[in-house]
Amino acid sequence: MDPFSDPQAVARYAEGPPRLVPGYDGMQRMAQLLLAERIPDDARMLVLGAGGGLELRAFAQAQPGWTFDGIDPAAEMLKLAERTLGPLAARVHLHQGYIDDAPEGPFDAATCLLTLHFVAHEARRRTVAEVRRRLKPGAPFVVAHLSVPQGEGERALWLSRYAAFAVASGIAPDQAANAQATIDTRLTILTPEQDEAILREAGFSNVSLFYAGFTFRGWVAYA
Ligand SMILES: C[S@@+](CC[C@H](N)C(=O)[O-])C[C@H]1O[C@@H](n2cnc3c(N)ncnc32)[C@H](O)[C@@H]1O
Repeated sequence: MDPFSDPQAVARYAEGPPRLVPGYDGMQRMAQLLLAERIPDDARMLVLGAGGGLELRAFAQAQPGWTFDGIDPAAEMLKLAERTLGPLAARVHLHQGYIDDAPEGPFDAATCLLTLHFVAHEARRRTVAEVRRRLKPGAPFVVAHLSVPQGEGERALWLSRYAAFAVASGIAPDQAANAQATIDTRLTILTPEQDEAILREAGFSNVSLFYAGFTFRGWVAYA
């Protein structure tokens, strides 16, 4: 079963990112600061892959005037987002679906955290272009996901570091090895150059790397 549709897996979701993504809390905080640099106190934000509600909660707590549209295909992950948000949910509209189900905006900013590696290359191009189309001119877009160099032996080395970080965070070695095999075979992990090209081809400019944590990288770019 897809882990984002499995109620038991979803119930444990929030434990995952801090143990699997080096510097997860700092990455979220940097994302919020990069957005706040450019957008007003009453900004309207698009959050793609919003299931679980972790970044929605972090952004809503840091910025009491921001409102959010959160999009995610997984109903269970959206239910978890509601629970995570509690009273903050009053500033959030959650939509079940994909980018085409998002309101037209125009939004002051957008994020897509730990999500684009679930989207195949061609669909990712289209998804990023559809985010761009919903943003005001100059609006920031912050993304972070799996992205590794893929020269001779490099992909395997970086994925072994993903598993090593998981084990060092307390995940059992066999589970970490399974997770490594799953991300290697089921997800679409591009090179950093390909990820940056997708942002540029979608019309974003000033594409800048702001975060690198072993197998994960994050960029800010501007519509
Ligand atoms: C690893 S979770 C990340 C959730 C959240 N952004 C965070 O940082 O904790 C990935 C989420 O992306 C969603 N997802 C998968 N494919 C998607 C797509 N094409 N568009 C939007 N969300 C997608 C999944 O349902 C899941 O909730």
